[in-house]
Amino acid sequence: MARVNRTLVLSLLIAASCIFLLFQLFNHRQTKNGLSVLSSKGYLSGKEAHWHLLKKFLGLVHKFKLPVFLVDTASLKLLSQDAVLYRDSQLKEPHCSFLCTHRDFTTFALYGNLWKYDAALLEAAAERGLELMEIHGKDPRLVSMDDLTAKEIPLHFLFRFNSRLVHVVVLYERSGKYLWHGPLRLKASMDRTFAPFGKLDYGRHARAYDRPELILTTLDGLDVRIPKNFSGFLREFSSSRFLECRSREAKAFFQLYPEDTSAEAVDFRMRAKSLLHLASKVLSVLGVPFWLSSGTCLGWYRQCSIIPYSKDVDLGIWIKDYRHDITQAFQKAGLPLKHKFGKVEDSLELSFQGNDVKLDIFFFYDDGDVVWNGGTQAKSGRKFKYVFPRFSLCWTELMELKVQVPCETGDYVTANYGPNWNVPVKTWDWKSSPFNVQENGVWPVREWDDVIQVY
Ligand SMILES: *[C@@H]1O[C@H](CO)[C@@H](O)[C@H](O)[C@H]1NC(C)=O
Repeated sequence: MARVNRTLVLSLLIAASCIFLLFQLFNHRQTKNGLSVLSSKGYLSGKEAHWHLLKKFLGLVHKFKLPVFLVDTASLKLLSQDAVLYRDSQLKEPHCSFLCTHRDFTTFALYGNLWKYDAALLEAAAERGLELMEIHGKDPRLVSMDDLTAKEIPLHFLFRFNSRLVHVVVLYERSGKYLWHGPLRLKASMDRTFAPFGKLDYGRHARAYDRPELILTTLDGLDVRIPKNFSGFLREFSSSRFLECRSREAKAFFQLYPEDTSAEAVDFRMRAKSLLHLASKVLSVLGVPFWLSSGTCLGWYRQCSIIPYSKDVDLGIWIKDYRHDITQAFQKAGLPLKHKFGKVEDSLELSFQGNDVKLDIFFFYDDGDVVWNGGTQAKSGRKFKYVFPRFSLCWTELMELKVQVPCETGDYVTANYGPNWNVPVKTWDWKSSPFNVQENGVWPVREWDDVIQVY
């Protein structure tokens, strides 16, 4: 009997410890996931630690006059116009409700062009008990086809305190007068456990932004600069991914097919450049997003430039972004309508006459897994269709202009020009040469007046 009892007690004890261990494990995982809300004490101390990190960091910012502003997507989402105007500096007990989010990090941007690297910053950070990691990368402003070796510049700083982080992203002004930051790439020798690198919003991709207007405000008792239009900034952030032009491949291309430097080619590129800048201005005033399409996209992708014998500038626009005042806006800008083919419901394309260079705007339609744009032959009413795999849009720079291209540029160009897109083709027929062209019937004669307009 005594023996049975002992076994029973022992089993019960083992069972109880197992449950306890499981509970501990569960609790630990919750805390690791940042859900320490469950224990109110841990939550407070986590927020307190974060606030102290921010205070230390902003102390450094003040001391070294660092041109930083808040770009943290989680914090900016918590702001409302009221919170910014109210400036809760009156609060005696600062409580961290905007700058401390559900995450273990807060992100700031630093204007690289207005800042001079000062090693004393590192010492001052260490004195305040902040650990610091610096990530460098190539300066793309110095990379060109003539010089592929660029010097390295600081791209990211991570200040760590109590396993919490301030992530500082260094923004540089590029020649198209926009702000750019590089991706966060760790070198082999770097500590991969220093930060939750996969979670950082400003780590995975290079990104580009227009320069935001900033205002000084007080959040959680701390003075910080934020984009004045923070909701606009968040919107811009969501489609800010940036692709660098492929200088290395472009250089290899020009070694096979030397660049045309005749006066004619140089002249065409200058005209195409100014047409591209003008079109971008007109469309951005209207708030219509667009991307480089067809030959203009191929020129960027293959040779970081405009193909001199292409004779036009090609842009793509989603049909959902079509506005009736597009034509009028281009005409006001000095670009008369040359032709209009198709209609909003089907195969719309607009063509404007620039200074010896034509501007073609193709409207793109959604069709399940693919997207397409249409073509129309004026004399016969025949319709064509050019089909592409779905894509998202990324920013890049062409001819000193910040402009969008399909992020999956290789797939887009291959769909349009086939696997041999890397070989120049000078004789081109839009009805038969494209790799992705399909016959698409004929416009009914009664619609011709509407869908075939040539000026
Ligand atoms: C903020 O930016 C958005 C565009 O992203 C714009 O629609 C809005 O009018 C801007 N707000 C102000 C106050 O400028």
